[in-house]
Amino acid sequence: MSDKKRILLIDNEAGLCRMMEQILLDHGYLPRSYTSPRQAVEEFKASAWDLVISDIKMPGMSGLEVLQAIKAKQHDIPVIMITAYATVEMSIQALRKGAYDMLTKPFEPDELVYRVKNALQQRQLLEENRELRAELEEKFRFENIIGACEGLKSVLERVGKVAVRDTSILITGESGTGKELIAQAIHYNSPRREKKFVAINCGALPENLLESELFGYKKGAFTGATESRSGLLETASGGTLFLDEVGNLPMNVQKTLLRFLQEKEFHRLGDTSPTRVDIRVLSATNSDLKEAIKSGAFREDLYYRLNVVNIHLPPLRERCSDIPLLAAHFITLQNQKFKTATIGFESEALHILCSCEWPGNIRQLKNVVEACMAIETGEYISKDTLAQFIDADTCRNSASGEAGQISLDVPYSTALEHFEADLLKGLLKRHAGNIDSAAREAGMNMVTMYRKIKRYGIRKEDY
Ligand SMILES: Nc1ncnc2c1ncn2[C@@H]1O[C@H](COP(=O)(O)OP(=O)(O)OP(=O)(O)O)[C@@H](O)[C@H]1O
Ligand SMILES: [Mg+2]
Repeated sequence: MSDKKRILLIDNEAGLCRMMEQILLDHGYLPRSYTSPRQAVEEFKASAWDLVISDIKMPGMSGLEVLQAIKAKQHDIPVIMITAYATVEMSIQALRKGAYDMLTKPFEPDELVYRVKNALQQRQLLEENRELRAELEEKFRFENIIGACEGLKSVLERVGKVAVRDTSILITGESGTGKELIAQAIHYNSPRREKKFVAINCGALPENLLESELFGYKKGAFTGATESRSGLLETASGGTLFLDEVGNLPMNVQKTLLRFLQEKEFHRLGDTSPTRVDIRVLSATNSDLKEAIKSGAFREDLYYRLNVVNIHLPPLRERCSDIPLLAAHFITLQNQKFKTATIGFESEALHILCSCEWPGNIRQLKNVVEACMAIETGEYISKDTLAQFIDADTCRNSASGEAGQISLDVPYSTALEHFEADLLKGLLKRHAGNIDSAAREAGMNMVTMYRKIKRYGIRKEDY
């Protein structure tokens, strides 16, 4: 089938129709023109089109009626209306009724082509967006969150119930237990799913950067603020803001955030007028916030605002019955991604998996499964393969290797991460720990650099 775009042209002036048809043909489109609007609408209903161009003033059936009939059948098709100066009023009506663009008579061929290209591009973007969203919704369907053990089943039931409401939820659990996954599942199963899910790691940035990331700033708010910038609160407008590692929020930011949660408005740094946004806040922590409240590191009033509902994810060692299911799930995902055909773990290997402690929880299990699949040549993962990636006593992942050594046995993505971590350590050493200049040499902005330092757990002693 040809992937040329099909364009339906409607104009009662046969001459104009022919001219447009010729121009569009010359530019690689498949146009078809009609001088009778009724016939055109019939034709539109009968087959598939990518774009419609219709005159606004025609005898028999007005362009607005055509527009309505077309949108009633397919609301997302772009429609360009052709208009004359005299019909400004009508143009406004057409735009209100969902026309994508207007073309004023007389027009140059280039203008026609430009607007057609634009409308088709816009349509493609919308389609891609829809596909991406569908993919995300699929990924975060509750059915794709594995959990058959009683502990997790009741958690998931709870999540399903609270997802649709607008309540603030605090998700607690050890590292790697699936807190972010649950937060995303809540978002993609909530009425806010069409809007953004924006995550920020509250522990990854120093206080001043975190503040400007969250709240944005006004031009001139500080040296270097040459342009005004919106923060993540505004980016998440209408959607969900996920505050990861919320226990690491500095006191000052806690105060500003609390005010925002109470009043639904905040001030960009350096801005005297407030900005209002409507967002749902989800947060997660692997630290004990009650302890932090006792020691004065976390505000109690903020805790209650964030923790309207608490979802606690049990560590993997308390849900051993899920280990085989999770392992099978990760094998399926990996098989789909790399077109491999691993069937599962040999029974002895599975037994070892189930008897491990898993201090890194599900993330660690996932990494081990992926590492095993990268080197296993048989259909089943053997215990010898598994033994290369776990230490049976403590189940600490032994695949990480020392800095500077790249093992050929780890997956490509892991090897790249090791390499990047070593590179960053080297750069930081060279710049005597000056993150700003190391970031500049790496051609990376400072926020990204801070994130990576945090992500790879690079400490001051490392450079
Ligand atoms: N129940 C589950 N079913 C399938 N995959 C899961 C499940 N829970 C977690 N995972 C996967 O495990 C990995 C770790 O999960 P996630 O990042 O959500 O953990 P986390 O609690 O946010 O960890 P951290 O505290 O370290 O940030 C992810 O790849 C996630 O997709
Ligand atoms: Mg996380």
